[in-house]
Amino acid sequence: MYIKVVLDIPSKDFSNVHVIASWILILLVLGNLQVECHPYLNQSKLLEFCKSKDIVLVAYSALGSHRHPNWVEKDSPYVLEDPTLKAIAKKHNRSPGQVALRYQVQRGVVVLAKSFSEKRIKDNFQIFDFELTPEDMKAIDGLNRNFRYAKLLFAVDHPYYPFSEEY
Ligand SMILES: NC(=O)c1ccc[n+]([C@@H]2O[C@H](COP(=O)([O-])OP(=O)(O)OC[C@H]3O[C@@H](n4cnc5c(N)ncnc54)[C@H](OP(=O)(O)O)[C@@H]3O)[C@@H](O)[C@H]2O)c1
Repeated sequence: MYIKVVLDIPSKDFSNVHVIASWILILLVLGNLQVECHPYLNQSKLLEFCKSKDIVLVAYSALGSHRHPNWVEKDSPYVLEDPTLKAIAKKHNRSPGQVALRYQVQRGVVVLAKSFSEKRIKDNFQIFDFELTPEDMKAIDGLNRNFRYAKLLFAVDHPYYPFSEEY
């Protein structure tokens, strides 16, 4: 039914609001939303909205992205080099990557991590045997700066470019 509602919106009448409304309707059917999400773009408002609608938020680029030069500007900050994240990692005797992944799990986000290294793949699973304190979580929340790695700049002039919207 939701899909029918979306399809019934005449395409000539589509505005950004329609596009966003359509996505919300589709998400209600699919039940999950995959977005860029890490300590520098923590998507807290979107996460709150998703939780209120029983939509699971899935985080990609949770370690600060692959930094491929075709997609990510080379002067982008390194999440895993962040002093706060490093200090929390040191305190728990973990890597900054493990802390960045644990942060997402603890706030109810399904988290993706990509690596070509066998050791890192194994390490990235070792996040269920330690817990960040509420103070750690608050400190990591405080790192947010709404910084997006994959800005898709080639599409920035498109009328439906999504990343100018608050969500
Ligand atoms: N839906 C979408 O539009 C979308 C967009 C982007 C990505 N994704 C999905 O999200 C997944 C991951 O996102 P991503 O590739 O952007 O980035 P990511 O997982 O944030 O970062 C991957 C990079 O981090 C390194 N890394 C992995 N584990 C590490 C650790 N423990 N410590 C330090 N560095 C570590 C990897 O290098 P090494 O290989 O050298 O370990 C790789 O360069 C992708 O597989 C993709 O399927 C989806």
